[in-house]
Amino acid sequence: MIGVIGAGTMGADIAALFANTGFKVVLVDRSKESLKKAREKHEEECLNELEEAGLKKRDELVSSIHYTTELKSVRDCDFIVEAITEKLQPKIELFREIERFNDKAVFATNTSSFMPSEIAEKLSNPGRLTLFHFSNPPILMPLVEVGGSRVSEEALEKGVSMAKTIGKEPVVLKKECRGHVLNRMLGAAGVAVGYCLLYHRPEEVDSALKNLGLKYGFFELLDMIGLDVAKDVLESFRDYYGDRFKGIRSMDFFLEKMVEWGKLGKKSGEGFYKWEGSKAKIPTASPADVRPLVAAIVNEALRIVEDGIADEKTVNRVYMLATNAPYGIMDAAEMLGYPNILKALNEAFEVTKLEIFRPCELLRSKL
Ligand code: NAI
Repeated sequence: MIGVIGAGTMGADIAALFANTGFKVVLVDRSKESLKKAREKHEEECLNELEEAGLKKRDELVSSIHYTTELKSVRDCDFIVEAITEKLQPKIELFREIERFNDKAVFATNTSSFMPSEIAEKLSNPGRLTLFHFSNPPILMPLVEVGGSRVSEEALEKGVSMAKTIGKEPVVLKKECRGHVLNRMLGAAGVAVGYCLLYHRPEEVDSALKNLGLKYGFFELLDMIGLDVAKDVLESFRDYYGDRFKGIRSMDFFLEKMVEWGKLGKKSGEGFYKWEGSKAKIPTASPADVRPLVAAIVNEALRIVEDGIADEKTVNRVYMLATNAPYGIMDAAEMLGYPNILKALNEAFEVTKLEIFRPCELLRSKL
């Protein structure tokens, strides 16, 4: 039996993936409203996505899931995935509470930004917790990042095999870091895109990215992620990486106001775009020049390699799995050419003075 805690954007879909594979699932949320919405999602949107993902759809999805506000209901689960709000302390408190009544389950965290060890080290058995990080939308995207500096071999193995069982491609990271591989690249994009917005509209940026073969535009994806979640992740990055993830003030102000006004993206019906159910209404637009954005992602990808988190091949693969593009970020770098990437970074740095555009050593060595 599988436990999923948090029935929001991610937890609802993760529960659906497990239930669809044939597991009994306990889906816990402290909000009855979230549970109700998750159930409605399971009755329609998730079934459509499972079909789109080419997975054999089980009509009895809802009957395989126990929807509850009672945390103790996960007492007999042997794999428990946490997908609650992106705040460190509540995640720690949640697992500390569960370890009081469940000593057998492997714990899995879907945290977007925190290192698994930041949670694990506060548990009485740190080895039982693994990173288990999906990309959005979890039913359609095959990536699950797995790992952690404190995780036991057994728990890591369980994470890997669980990801495979639900039809995903697990990527084991060599070392942990805030944001793992995917969200460090996404976070760099989130900062760098502020520069593109000085000259272009969101739909122009998204139009260019879709022309490059990505399944979703960046702003469309931000709306799917949830602007509140994106803001929490950027805050977590700034706490840890400092100025490197500092953005353009107007973009930060915009994100803050949108969250304050409850315009959270897909889940509230409006963010950068207006949403009709699971579809964004994106105005038709001519493509923007997104070279600075791509250059910033390449630069961060190479920093990830420099930091020993993953090798270039893995970073490339993570990008492909999370974007559905027919090539990875290292392939894009080769296609664009490193001198052009350096030029785009330098130009953007000149205007913005943002650290995200400062070329890393590995990039310089490629010239
Ligand atoms: P969300 O805001 O849509 O849902 C979070 C849910 O957790 C809410 O329904 C809330 O009521 C519930 N919750 C909060 N604290 C709780 C607690 N102590 N016990 C039980 N339920 C609790 O958030 P979302 O987007 O689903 O994100 C969840 C986690 O997954 C976060 O850590 C996020 O960083 C991560 N993540 C998010 C992605 C995204 O695209 N939104 C992608 C990958 C990871």
